[in-house]
Amino acid sequence: MIELGIVVGSTRPRRIGPVVADWLRNEVPPDTFAVTVLDLAEIGLPLLDEPELAATGIYTHEHTRHWSRLVGSVDALVLVTPEYNNGYPAAVKNAIDYLYAEWADKPVAVFGYGYRGAASCREQLATVLRRVHARVVDGVGLRLRDHLVGEPGAAAAVRPDAELLGATRRMLDALAQAVIAGTDAVEDVRPTV
Ligand SMILES: Cc1cc2nc3c(=O)[nH]c(=O)nc-3n(C[C@H](O)[C@H](O)[C@H](O)COP(=O)(O)O)c2cc1C
Repeated sequence: MIELGIVVGSTRPRRIGPVVADWLRNEVPPDTFAVTVLDLAEIGLPLLDEPELAATGIYTHEHTRHWSRLVGSVDALVLVTPEYNNGYPAAVKNAIDYLYAEWADKPVAVFGYGYRGAASCREQLATVLRRVHARVVDGVGLRLRDHLVGEPGAAAAVRPDAELLGATRRMLDALAQAVIAGTDAVEDVRPTV
């Protein structure tokens, strides 16, 4: 079973992030993945307040160690994130900046949403994730104008079409493959007796 973290990247009141994350969670095949939802609003990281660089692995604050344990305990991650002003939300970048080694080799996909599919946000986040040596897997762009019905906030619902379902399935397959390939790579370098 693959441990999959689904990060909810928006933190404001009446956000639709949890609606999108819930929909995704229900699309995840339960025979392949065990899902943990990591909601940045609940996790409540302050703006980066560690005195040492994350690359040192020296964490002064319990909130950093908590976040480190959460990211470290999953095999792969999907960042469910809105596009804000052609970029990513500050909370998502802040959560990435808190850690370093935890991201290395971690298969990560960006499931972005915005009126036109959040392409800028997804592209910019992929650049950031490569900087921390995550294994970036092709993500998904949900178009709010096509794929969301109802009022903004919790009353909204995802209305998928074949394109969204196909992209979501490919993303989850690619994450599973990346996890399996990573495991194989580790096994390959083990000495034989
Ligand atoms: C600060 C801010 C900036 C936004 N900028 C964009 C944008 O650049 N492109 C876009 O498609 N939608 C943009 N939107 C609209 C969001 O896609 C929409 O409000 C969505 O519900 C945000 O996700 P959330 O509700 O989970 O926060 C923006 C919304 C906010 C709050």
